[in-house]
Amino acid sequence: MSTKISLSRYLVEQQRVDGLIPAQLRLLLEVVARACKSISHAVNKGALGGVLGSAETENVQGEVQKKLDIIANEVLIEANEWGGHLAAMASEEMDGIYMVPNRYPQGEYLLLFDPLDGSSNIDVNVSIGTIFSVLKKSEGSGHGVSEQDFLQAGNRQVAAGYCIYGPQTTLVLTVGDGVAMFTLDREQGSFVLVQEHVRVPADTKEFAINMSNMRHWAPPVRRYVDECLAGKDGPRGKDFNMRWIASMVADVHRILTRGGIFMYPWDQREPNKPGKLRLMYEANPMGWLVEQAGGAATNGKQRILDIQPTQLHERVSVILGSKNEVERVTGYHTQT
Ligand code: AHG
Ligand code: MN
Ligand code: MN
Repeated sequence: MSTKISLSRYLVEQQRVDGLIPAQLRLLLEVVARACKSISHAVNKGALGGVLGSAETENVQGEVQKKLDIIANEVLIEANEWGGHLAAMASEEMDGIYMVPNRYPQGEYLLLFDPLDGSSNIDVNVSIGTIFSVLKKSEGSGHGVSEQDFLQAGNRQVAAGYCIYGPQTTLVLTVGDGVAMFTLDREQGSFVLVQEHVRVPADTKEFAINMSNMRHWAPPVRRYVDECLAGKDGPRGKDFNMRWIASMVADVHRILTRGGIFMYPWDQREPNKPGKLRLMYEANPMGWLVEQAGGAATNGKQRILDIQPTQLHERVSVILGSKNEVERVTGYHTQT
């Protein structure tokens, strides 16, 4: 690429040339990117910045919070609350919604995030990330904002993305016109476009699932993985490779880069829970990104983006990635 295109320029062009994004949404995305840059600096400092280890508190899902979970949450709130583009925010790390304080102007957008995804990898220096989803307050929902305003299906997202903090810090974004990737140039201090029109190949020989849960899986998932493991001599007639990073951002980033299938399915450990991952700030944004890149995302029965949420922190079974593989696993679910 001869001319470097910054995220700011990319967004201005999406607004001006393609009329895809209103100015307020552009501002919102710039602010999210700035917050991610700041989280990236904190992540990079690690022990030197005193950011590793547990905060010894629990979030609404009963998970012990790491110091960086809390730091990243605060960075995102502080960056976004005063710009006038948001009505409210919701986060994995907060029980209820966070309303923009009265002293600031209110906008019409709703921002949801998983401030730090892959928390178990923070202290071991493995890739982690921030996932975000943007919705618009429905017209006619009146003044003020409530949790109800957030309960929109993923197909109503107006922007979604993640920032991965790995060997490179890369922000991956969709506003409904394909997927673009921007890597942080630390000398310039800005995100620079490195790939546009990201495509996920329809076929793959790589799957990602936490195999330690195998004995708890439902028969369709077991069948799919058993067939992959049987390799060249089995029904698939080819050998498969396996990866599991335990950071959804890192697993999805690999899939957007070279294909693959990612699964965190329902299992029998807690039969009343639909899955481990959260619909509104993990599965929806990742599902939309993967679809925008030509892949697919289902819960085994239904397209993730068509699920009508009933709770902010609701969980969901996730199967996403290369289209033909996702369709195969989904097909196994409907046959049983
Ligand atoms: P979070 O750190 O935001 O709670 O999310 C962790 C998620 C996801 O990133 C990853 O795919 C999965 O949990 C890993 O779970 P296991 O440790 O059960 O493999
Ligand atoms: Mn997460
Ligand atoms: Mn998290």
